Amino acid sequence: MTRQRLVVANWKMNGSLEANAAWAEGWMRLERPACEAAVCAPFVYLAQMKPLLAQAGLGLGAQNVSQHAAGAYTGEVSAQMLVDAGVEWVIIGHSERRTLFGETNAVVASKVKAALAAGLKPIVCVGETLQERESSQTLRVVEEQLGAVISEVGAKALASCAVAYEPVWAIGTGKSATPEIAQHVHAALRDAVARFDVETARQLRILYGGSVKPSNAAELFAQPDIDGGLIGGAALKSEDFHAICAA
Ligand code: 13P
Repeated sequence: MTRQRLVVANWKMNGSLEANAAWAEGWMRLERPACEAAVCAPFVYLAQMKPLLAQAGLGLGAQNVSQHAAGAYTGEVSAQMLVDAGVEWVIIGHSERRTLFGETNAVVASKVKAALAAGLKPIVCVGETLQERESSQTLRVVEEQLGAVISEVGAKALASCAVAYEPVWAIGTGKSATPEIAQHVHAALRDAVARFDVETARQLRILYGGSVKPSNAAELFAQPDIDGGLIGGAALKSEDFHAICAA
């Protein structure tokens, strides 16, 4: 079966009203790529980006969500609030959230549950550190990270998600995983889902993230189990993000 390609920009904590508008303007000058694409913007810019991205044929996403529905959680944003803002996608369990903000597999799983309950589409991030890779722990780590989500919401719920494999050592380092390394992990993740549900595994879009650039996107996306990308630094320039979508 053919899975529709998906390329997602993760702007992280970057942007401004002015820069975001210029990004959208730049994108609009380019031809629409054939793949599905979305931009995950900081919370405060969601309202600004909603109409701009709709006009540009791009989906709107957030970068985090609370696992709680409402109440005394100062500084948090609920899944229902994201739905109110017109958000479709939400990145959950990015390695920066896991390492800098202490999100455990259990927290990530409960955030996925909350997002799905509100009708959002989670982009569930998994990935190993350099130390884990060097000690041959990669598949154990990523399968455990995804397994925690499956235990919480069930494998069939992944039909409403995308998974992003982002090796921590490749994020923001300029040093992407080779297509072979990425393909190996993507295939293992798909197999892990297939042990629960073959059809869901076949349909699941597994994105690669970590130093994807216009120059290496095509060889990564040519791999049979790589269905698109989650793009950080290169997504801050609309021309580069467009070139990656075109690849
Ligand atoms: P870079 O593309 O900057 O390496 O970041 C990848 C990433 O973390 C996307 O979520």
